[in-house]
Amino acid sequence: MRTPLIAGNWKMHKTLPEARALVQAIRDGLPAATGGANVDVLICPPAQLLFPMAKAVAGSPILLGAQNAHEEPQGAFTGEISVPMLVDTGCTHVVIGHSERRQLFGEGSERLAKKVRAVLSAGLTCVYCVGETLAERESGKTQDVLSKQCSEVLSRDMNADRLVIAYEPVWAIGTGKTATPQQAQEAHAFLRSRLSGIFGATVSERIRILYGGSVKPGNAAGLLALEDVDGALVGGACLEAGDFLAIISASRAPARANA
Ligand code: PGA
Repeated sequence: MRTPLIAGNWKMHKTLPEARALVQAIRDGLPAATGGANVDVLICPPAQLLFPMAKAVAGSPILLGAQNAHEEPQGAFTGEISVPMLVDTGCTHVVIGHSERRQLFGEGSERLAKKVRAVLSAGLTCVYCVGETLAERESGKTQDVLSKQCSEVLSRDMNADRLVIAYEPVWAIGTGKTATPQQAQEAHAFLRSRLSGIFGATVSERIRILYGGSVKPGNAAGLLALEDVDGALVGGACLEAGDFLAIISASRAPARANA
């Protein structure tokens, strides 16, 4: 069985004092939220908070991740941060290919393939994001888009044991619109079939596929109970400890088993 992963993408939010308060509140509420169930919890703060947040999560089960990384290990790339630098901070996960990186910063498949490879080669876990726009969904291209986002970036020689996929329909991110359970399950099952084509059936069964896009305490249980939904990548609702903890709570194994 795949252990659920609940990941919080803080995006460009939180100053240091705010971040410390948020992590403390998550730490305090975590035992009650998980109820001892096996749930992985990940926070992805902005890069300048990684060092202090590594300290803030020390001694707790909370995992630490970055939101982006440059594909080269070093060089004249003003403003960028490399994977070896992220390793220094103590983070273990890196989000790659978030739709905001794709849309606002022009990151395409060729670049993202290098980034995913750089993250996995360093022994970190890569949370690789895919998802279609509204226009793509409405013109029936969802599967083509997801298929391309997988085949152009992922390849068989990558260490899939450290790969997590996040399905985030672009039209659901930050909009308050969520995929229906049926839309989510369909997309996740399709993604798993694509992963099977790349990595083989056994490996694809082990890869966690997270759902992202307006996940809130009120809709999390329904999404997380779906067969191929193995967790959530949470944006807005991860900025408030109570909401994030409620989503963690919704991922607990009993809720999945009863679904
Ligand atoms: P949202 O963001 O939960 O605010 O929609 C999700 C994401 O961008 O990862």
